[in-house]
Amino acid sequence: MRTVISIPDLRAAVRALKTHGKRIAFVPTMGNLHAGHLALVERARQAADAVVASIFVNPLQFGAGEDFERYPRTEARDAALLAEAGADLLFLPAIDTLYPHGKDDCTRVEVPALGDILCGAARPGHFVGVTTIVAKLFNLVQPDVAVFGEKDFQQLTLLRRMVLDLDMPIEIIGHPTRREDDGLAMSSRNGYLDADERARAPMIHAMLKSLAGQIHAGRDDFGALEEEGRAVLDAAGFRTDYVAIRRVEDLAPPQSKQDELVILAAAWLGRTRLIDNQRV
Ligand code: PAF
Repeated sequence: MRTVISIPDLRAAVRALKTHGKRIAFVPTMGNLHAGHLALVERARQAADAVVASIFVNPLQFGAGEDFERYPRTEARDAALLAEAGADLLFLPAIDTLYPHGKDDCTRVEVPALGDILCGAARPGHFVGVTTIVAKLFNLVQPDVAVFGEKDFQQLTLLRRMVLDLDMPIEIIGHPTRREDDGLAMSSRNGYLDADERARAPMIHAMLKSLAGQIHAGRDDFGALEEEGRAVLDAAGFRTDYVAIRRVEDLAPPQSKQDELVILAAAWLGRTRLIDNQRV
């Protein structure tokens, strides 16, 4: 696997990979990789002839007081894992490379409405940061497909909408969440949890599964179910941002019995914000 840090080197390396009509799959990450990321690379390998990955802790998607500074940077280990997983090219840019005029003055890409609800309401500006950096990376790598984890379900929904709205010829693949044995969704932020918090963290997944089971069994009093989910988390010592039952398609509240549903939750344990979701 080759690693490049500059835009000209990235463009040249991608051009070389694309010779003979080869298809490129792209896996953008913020590093501190775990088995969930490596599963995305594996999925990308199945979808194309060559895999490009990126590692960039994007300052634009972190709000004031969030964990940008302490977000774990483990590039050497990550590069070794990506090479082992079969990535062909790693883009590892510096902040100035992607935000040459500073992040505050850069042109932004916004998916309105979808970006302001759920995690967008709790983290104003977060999704503008995500869609802006992903649009930039898409322009640089020009992949045929890009693979994202379903754990960040709202992010995935926004990115699907962004490529549609901006006519980007890129297929977006969502890959199922990888979980620890006790059900906790794998996340780079799990490393922030202390032993007691780590023991309680799987409660989010258990609660989501229980709500999904009740909907499956016929309950459709969604407001009450959301309140019950929130009460379970609160009782276990979480500070809950939301438990929400939404349509898969556009994350709007359910309108009819035919809607395909997803239950999403975000909650804090101490200083760590965890998110997870469960399709019904
Ligand atoms: O999901 C992530 O790790 C990030 O939000 C992404 C898509 C790499 C953009 O910085």
